[in-house]
Amino acid sequence: MNTIVVGTQWGDEGKGKVIDILSEKADFIVRYQGGNNAGHTVVVDGKEYIFHLIPSGILHKGKVCCIGNGVVVDPQVLLQEIKGLEKAGIRIDGRLKISSLAHVILPYHKILDQLRETKRAHKIGTTGRGIGPSYADKTIRCGIRMADLLNRRVLREKLKDNLREKNEIFKKVYAHPGFDFSRIYEEYLDYGRALSRYISNCALLLNRAVALKKDILFEGAQGTFLDIDFGTYPFVTSSSATAGGACIGTGVSPVLMDKVIGVAKAYTTRVGEGPFPTEFLPPFAEMMRDRGNEFGATTGRPRRCGWFDSVMARYAVLINGIKELAIMKMDVLDGLKKIEICVAYKYKGKKFREFPDDWEVLTRAKPVYKSVPGWEKAPGRSQGFARLHPNAKSYLRRLEDLLGAKISMVSVGSSRAETIII
Ligand code: IMP
Repeated sequence: MNTIVVGTQWGDEGKGKVIDILSEKADFIVRYQGGNNAGHTVVVDGKEYIFHLIPSGILHKGKVCCIGNGVVVDPQVLLQEIKGLEKAGIRIDGRLKISSLAHVILPYHKILDQLRETKRAHKIGTTGRGIGPSYADKTIRCGIRMADLLNRRVLREKLKDNLREKNEIFKKVYAHPGFDFSRIYEEYLDYGRALSRYISNCALLLNRAVALKKDILFEGAQGTFLDIDFGTYPFVTSSSATAGGACIGTGVSPVLMDKVIGVAKAYTTRVGEGPFPTEFLPPFAEMMRDRGNEFGATTGRPRRCGWFDSVMARYAVLINGIKELAIMKMDVLDGLKKIEICVAYKYKGKKFREFPDDWEVLTRAKPVYKSVPGWEKAPGRSQGFARLHPNAKSYLRRLEDLLGAKISMVSVGSSRAETIII
């Protein structure tokens, strides 16, 4: 079975936990896009693990974890993550594979990401990790790939060529002194040496696994509305975070995919700038942020919070071909008297039931809400769907009806045990 897990909102939906649970039954777990702008927090036996690049499935013994060609890799961050896992006693040798075609994040990408933000009138609020500039180099065909770190001659030529042009731009446009070739060259050759045993042809490996009827889990990072095409452009990331990205980012054909699971929070959050129709107003916003501990796993930035937006989520179900949903952080809604669900947008007297492409509508529309009654703090959270408060159950049923997909998992706390499988 080949399953894709995608975020249906603006990332941070709790995909890490879903992947962690589904990993038990998978043989391979594969990241297909994004980079260390992502951050998954997984809690196992009271111990917290934060992942930026390596699939969280690595916590399960015997599973093979791949970083696909669609990912952009900061080798320094990856090596730190590897060291952290080894220190925690988790063996990764033979279980971690990095696509030789994955593009590399270089120092100039990170600096450019930050400098560009300072120049913009409308800041995107990027994570500043060099993600956008690295994908830009990939697209304009001057990127450096993992395989290049293993070949002195190729790396020298590519890096020289890049710096010749980029240093001019850094000096003339950003009044930045630019970058020294030798330092980057030696540093990245070192990374290549340290990572060489993990770098391989992942497309080949995965397709062979498919032929052997192995189970593969494709792990999306960010979410549908941060997707470069379908997200709230330009306030998006630079990769294909939707289900289609799983094929491009791994080399496994669309005809081999079996299922897409969409992950949504029981409410909505967003980090960074950009439209957010159902965003809470203060002081409720702060209260909900604290309850949900809504601070970015990567940058620690406070997340913006709002009500569940079914217009967005239904569009995500459509774009990704989602049949199954995992609803996360239900417990954060415990104890609220009344809960709102956005069912449409209203702008200039017109109702929009579908997610609008028109920027003016998206940024100015007011949400149309349906109120549903809240519930007391749920007793015996981990004891199954039947034991949920009736109002919590009807909230979930309402989401199923609005989104046109079945809920197969509900998370009511951060640990693996606090998960209801339906
Ligand atoms: P970038 O991916 O660093 O270029 O950032 C672009 C936008 O995507 C910013 O609004 C970031 O806050 C957002 N973003 C990137 N990665 C994540 C993520 O993993 N979770 C939530 N937001 C993200």
